[in-house]
This record gives sequence, structure tokens and C-alpha cells, in this order.
Amino acid sequence: MKPILSPSILTADFTRLGDTIQIINKSSADWIHLDIMDGVYVPNISFGFPVIESIKKIAAKPLDVHLMIEDADRYINRFRDAGADILTVHYEACVHLQRTLANIRALGMKAGVALNPHTPVMLLKNLLRYTDMVLIMTVNPGFGGQTFVEESWSKIAEMRRMIDESGYDILIQVDGGVDLSNAVKLVETGVNVLVAGNTVFGSPDPAATIEKFVKLF
Ligand code: DX5
Ligand code: ZN
Repeated sequence: MKPILSPSILTADFTRLGDTIQIINKSSADWIHLDIMDGVYVPNISFGFPVIESIKKIAAKPLDVHLMIEDADRYINRFRDAGADILTVHYEACVHLQRTLANIRALGMKAGVALNPHTPVMLLKNLLRYTDMVLIMTVNPGFGGQTFVEESWSKIAEMRRMIDESGYDILIQVDGGVDLSNAVKLVETGVNVLVAGNTVFGSPDPAATIEKFVKLF
């Protein structure tokens, strides 16, 4: 089945953020992936509410917001107000994850859980009822342009089996090192949502690269 494509703007040219969003608006991409980093949970700081609010004003596609932050509970309503449509928190950064996911849904957003490369998918077994999307990190979070972690393949397949057996309608997203050479195999393994940052915005023609992704399917 045709996957959802969610370009990450992390490695785009931030002096031309409006142009970047317009490229995605006019493209065949489905969502806009925004990476929020707090400098504590991950060793990098990206951008926050004012930038998300500005993007929301011109975005023609849903905002897929990936939180790499500690204490996400404090900010869930602010991300909703800033314009998030899908809000993903990290398993490793949430002490009361069931409550966090329920709160995200209660505020009208889709609830996502991200797993770092070392975190087994089995840990989500008792949370599937509260989850709209599982983000399997295929790199360690914090930076764009890293190398895909090969152990991810079996995690994706295992997650796919677990979701199918549960009967819940849950998307699998992958993020990190996704490119034109592994995208088809990822989808065949069970992925529904492809995030691509460096492959798109590190290329000379991001709009053309997005269309190359879409034409693979
Ligand atoms: C990494 C971020 C990713 C990143 C993906 O921490 O969550 O969304 O932008 O980057 P690429 O596609 O460049 O590996
Ligand atoms: Zn991300």
C-alpha cells in the first residue's frame, strides 16, 4: 500500500523556512515532520513554539511533531495550540506513558510513541489501545543525516506482527537514514509512514526528490 511521506525540515535552510514549507505544500508529500529537541533528552536543540506557530499559518498539510524532550506532559496543550496534528513522545522520556498518550488524544491530536534503537517493541504490548502511531527510530535521535541502524528491520517486522495480532489501527513510522534505496523494503516490511530529512533537503532539488519517493510506490 502507498505509504504516507513526511519530510523532515531539520536539515532544510532555516533562512528560507517559508519556501521550504511551500515546497512541501505543493508536493505530493502527506505530512510535515517537525523535530523538537530540548538539549537534555538529546544532545541538540532545534526549535520551539514560535517556529511551529509560524509554520502552521502557511502549512497545507498536517504537522507531524516529534518530541525529543523530557517532561513532555508539561507542554502537550502548548503543542496542540501551536498547531500539532500528530504528537509523538519518546517511550524512554515518559514516566507515565499511558496517561501522556491519553492526554494527547483528549486534546484532539493523534498520539505517537517513539522507540530508540535499543528499546524493544515488546514494551508497547500493553499500550496499543492508546496508540495511533509507533515511531521506530532507525537512528539515535538528535541529528539528521545519520546512518540507518540495521537492527531496525527485525523491530519493524515484529511491531507489524504485534499490531496485526492486536487488531488495532496503528501506523508504523520510521525516522532516520530513510532514502530512495531502502524506502520500498521498509514499506514491504510493514512501515506506513516514511520520514525523510537529509535525503530530501540535502538534495539539490527537494521538490523533485519528494516526487521520486512518491513514484517508488
Ligand atoms: C533525528 C530526527 C529525524 C531526522 C531524520 O533525530 O528525528 O527526523 O530529521 O533525518 P534524516 O532523514 O536526515 O536521517
Ligand atoms: Zn524526527
